[in-house]
Amino acid sequence: MNQAIEISNNIFWIGANDRRTHIFENYWPLPKGVAYNSYVIVDEKVAVIDTIERSRLDDYIENLQAVLNGRKVDYLIINHMEPDHSSAIKTLLCHFPGLTLVGNAKTFPMLENFYGVHENLLEVQEGSTLDLGKRKLNFYMAPMLHWPETMVTWVPEEGILFSADIFGAFGTLDGGIFDDQVDLDYLEEEISRYYSNIVGKYGVPAQTALKKLGGLPIRMICATHGPIWRTHIADIIARYDKWSKYETDEGVVIAFSSMYGHTEKMADLIGRFLAEKGVKKIRIHDTSKTHPSYIINDIFRYKGVILGSCSYNGNIFPTMETLLSELEHMGVKNHLMAFFANKTWAGGALPRFTQFADKIKWEIVAPHADASGSPVEKDVEACRNIACAMADRLQQKS
Ligand code: FEO
Repeated sequence: MNQAIEISNNIFWIGANDRRTHIFENYWPLPKGVAYNSYVIVDEKVAVIDTIERSRLDDYIENLQAVLNGRKVDYLIINHMEPDHSSAIKTLLCHFPGLTLVGNAKTFPMLENFYGVHENLLEVQEGSTLDLGKRKLNFYMAPMLHWPETMVTWVPEEGILFSADIFGAFGTLDGGIFDDQVDLDYLEEEISRYYSNIVGKYGVPAQTALKKLGGLPIRMICATHGPIWRTHIADIIARYDKWSKYETDEGVVIAFSSMYGHTEKMADLIGRFLAEKGVKKIRIHDTSKTHPSYIINDIFRYKGVILGSCSYNGNIFPTMETLLSELEHMGVKNHLMAFFANKTWAGGALPRFTQFADKIKWEIVAPHADASGSPVEKDVEACRNIACAMADRLQQKS
């Protein structure tokens, strides 16, 4: 879909769908693609709000020019400098040389560093107003959501919040652009995976922003990715509130690394024992098969986390190391955990799990299991103990 769509009186979506890029930020899988949303407000002055990733430039400029109908762009509001929204800036400057770039004190050093652009800048701060004519835009700073320069733009006359990546989602806009025009069930995982992987580290800044923006009479949320929220505004805000408080549902994620199946057997045993204890939401992931973004997403959903790994070259298995280091970097909070290890001779998984537990500070519900090859009776009992302790702890209410 490449066309301008009027979302409110003289306010247009001019975004683009990207179904070709396999990995976002060169890391996160995009099985359902991603949309880059840019917007233009046509008033006595014309303002574009964020741009798109440069691979779709030709269509983007064409759509913008169709909206402008011969007029020029006066302002480009840069809510967020990550290049999936800023890499069209130099092209816009070529088309509209008098363009004023609107950002905050943290925006402009990035603009210089990324693109060597340092002229025609208008610095705004919390509470600043930009007068377009009929509309007077307000700005709120939203630092670390998920970059330090992130800000949002509020149009009080329309009740529209241009929210940068906040409330964004992976997934292309396959026809509809509003939340009531798309299949939200189909996009469900891409909405939560976007939060958990891109924004998830920043729960505290998210809470700050929600408190700051919560009092606004919002009629529409226009994020830079995913659907425009106009029908499910309370739902998406409530979800952000829950996620950013690290609140989870009753369930258990078991993530394992296994070369020849012995450690996987332990994962299956624990899963079976959990089920016997009445736990229904059990998600077992093989870290060699499943990208960490999906495992992390499930960890944001469910309270219990049980991790298991074989040893490899005197350390933990590489794909489990990736998962552990991502969880450490994100500082994910508020989980119950247990772990299980396996070795053939020297080991290595167990010390790394112990180090991880010290760092992440989740509550450990049971002693670890430590097998040597195929699990024997003592290992089966250790796995049973982990599952029973996890189920019991989950069923307690605090
Ligand atoms: Fe969609 Fe943080 O860029």
